[in-house]
Amino acid sequence: MAGLIVEPVLANMGLVLPEKNFLKDLRKITNQFDIPLIFDEVVNGFRISEGGAQQKFGIKPDITTLGKALGNGFTISAVGGKKEIMNLLSPDGKVYQASTYAGNPVSVAAAISSIKTINKIKNKLYPKLERYCKVMVDEIDDLATDYKIPHTINSIASMFQIFFTTQKVIDYKTSKKSSTKKFHKLFTNLLKNGIFTAPSQYETVFLSDAHTDQNITKALGAYGLSLKAVKN
Ligand SMILES: Cc1ncc(COP(=O)(O)O)c(C=O)c1O
Repeated sequence: MAGLIVEPVLANMGLVLPEKNFLKDLRKITNQFDIPLIFDEVVNGFRISEGGAQQKFGIKPDITTLGKALGNGFTISAVGGKKEIMNLLSPDGKVYQASTYAGNPVSVAAAISSIKTINKIKNKLYPKLERYCKVMVDEIDDLATDYKIPHTINSIASMFQIFFTTQKVIDYKTSKKSSTKKFHKLFTNLLKNGIFTAPSQYETVFLSDAHTDQNITKALGAYGLSLKAVKN
């Protein structure tokens, strides 16, 4: 097997957390059979911790991909990994790789600046993101419970998503149990009330350092009105 690639915390089927020991077992098995373990941290990177999901779960993959939050709005993606794997790439290695915008100086400067800023403020940043996320999740959970709407919410660090099912969402099959009709109603009503979230059940809601107490209060007001609409 050439490699095993996984998004450690799935953010493209709603938000689905890895089951206990899942990532640890993947690491054990891939080590045992000498298979490179690749973490796709394009979404997870810098959102779960400054060291991504791999830091949070204490797993060291052989290759990591990054993007999105890395550039803080600028267009960039990156791949990194073990020296012996990265040395296989050009210009030193035999595997040629090139791209029109690879190493774009503006994007690289933005990414370096983002990483420096994150490292400077990480002790305040991540607790703040987690606090906001918990406030959102707890309040949305209470609202949906009060309206007797079947639901379950998955969350980690600065990320969360609601599913309209009472079943625990642990994989793609269980995420498909959610009522996308209800989700669509939630999305359109949130938008009507001034809050834009990703327009699909199979995406994730993110908190950012730009968010303020007022933003959270406004978002929760909109969730209140929107969940009421979902009920009716
Ligand atoms: C988990 C994940 N990996 C990779 C990608 C692709 O990243 P890029 O647009 O930089 O090719 C995406 C895009 O949304 C993603 O969500």
